[in-house]
Amino acid sequence: MYDKDLWAGDGTLKYLVDQGVNDYSIRQFFEREETINYYRGKIPIGIVRETNDVFYLNMNKSMRACTFAKTGTGKTFFMQTIFSRYFYSGGKVAIPTDVKNEFRWCEKPLQNDFKQFLLRKSTRYDYNELPSGLPIKSYYPAFLEAYNQDADIPKNEMCQMRVENLTAWDFLTLAGITKATEQQRFAVDEVFGHVKKGNIKTLSQAKRIIERSTTIPAASKPLLFNAMRTVTSDMVIGEKYPTPNFVKDIQEGYLPNLNLYGILKSGKNFKHYSSAYVAIILRQLYAAKAEGTIKEPLLIPLEEVRTLCPKDSDSNSSSKEAILDLLRLSRQENIGQIYNFQDVNDAAEVIVKNCNYIFIPRNIKTEDLCDIIKSYAPKNYTNPYYFKSHVMRMKSNMKKFEWLILDVERGEIIATLRPIAPLCYHKPETPS
Ligand SMILES: Nc1ncnc2c1ncn2[C@@H]1O[C@H](COP(=O)(O)OP(=O)(O)OP(=O)(O)O)[C@@H](O)[C@H]1O
Ligand SMILES: [Mg+2]
Repeated sequence: MYDKDLWAGDGTLKYLVDQGVNDYSIRQFFEREETINYYRGKIPIGIVRETNDVFYLNMNKSMRACTFAKTGTGKTFFMQTIFSRYFYSGGKVAIPTDVKNEFRWCEKPLQNDFKQFLLRKSTRYDYNELPSGLPIKSYYPAFLEAYNQDADIPKNEMCQMRVENLTAWDFLTLAGITKATEQQRFAVDEVFGHVKKGNIKTLSQAKRIIERSTTIPAASKPLLFNAMRTVTSDMVIGEKYPTPNFVKDIQEGYLPNLNLYGILKSGKNFKHYSSAYVAIILRQLYAAKAEGTIKEPLLIPLEEVRTLCPKDSDSNSSSKEAILDLLRLSRQENIGQIYNFQDVNDAAEVIVKNCNYIFIPRNIKTEDLCDIIKSYAPKNYTNPYYFKSHVMRMKSNMKKFEWLILDVERGEIIATLRPIAPLCYHKPETPS
């Protein structure tokens, strides 16, 4: 019926056809495929206001971008715009930080309200985009279960990590110990040394090792037992639900997604727990790229970077370590990242410095935009007397949902972008 090899042969189509879950997507997929060709490693993301040309991101080098925009400005929408076409251009996408339960819905095609923002065939460009859903595979940590009553997340999306997924640093993060004493560090290292060798598979085995250990200081033991009890009773570590396997999902043509809905609500240790989960997933993805298990370019969109990679030098966590490792190591592996921030002051400088693009909306504070231009687009820094009014004028010329694009390598502002819409469903804000 369908020719599996029609498109990149990476299993996506096979998934859609075999599952038969979303006839509408399949139909759209085929219609789109006949008319549009995204193969050239160029990702269309919007129209340049000044020239009316399509603006492309180049996916042949590891693309790193960050956005600084207040709530409701369109960061998530824009992120979806980028990753939906990245996927259709032959790239892989993994979403480890869905803090607002938004990306499960990408399984459906874009709704009618936004269709007008897709690229249409014209004399200027050869597109005729149609909405299409993405094969998302979502996981929801069991420890957040009590927080999802209002979100109605299906039971079959529940997941849990196993002891063998953890490093010593993850365990300290889970336990909320961000400044471990040397004794604690030593004790945890010893336990997780056994985990690494495969000698420990469950927390009760770990407990026995600690009880018997003569090298772990007695004073450290109660703390470790306590942390183990808590992560077990909170369902963070356990065997009841499957573990997410992002790498396998990607190989099978899915876009895996870790839904962390509830993490932003106040409560216990959910940020610590989520941090360890995100770290585990990022390490798996990086290893799979480095070992060649995932050969295609990979894009990792990161929401809520402020929480998972806090700027503050005191708040270290395993997700922070993993995000900064990824930043450092990802260039040679062609792993792209999109970092979403509410505010420029939330962002660790090392992240911004290492981005090729910075996207900024009109509602940023003038002072913040001045600082960003001075640091990352110095070619646009003019005479200090006029600079501030120049920046204010630039902002007031921008329309809602437009993005100023700073090219960090070139050190200048290169365009004002009117974003096109994602191809997949965008979950509208629900008034709270
Ligand atoms: N380019 C656009 N064109 C039209 N509408 C848009 C566009 N971008 C976003 N929107 C609308 O604005 C709303 C908010 O967008 P979005 O959820 O992406 O904001 P956000 O910056 O991610 O906010 P938050 O920080 O709260 O997550 C969306 O529900 C959508 O209706
Ligand atoms: Mg958002």
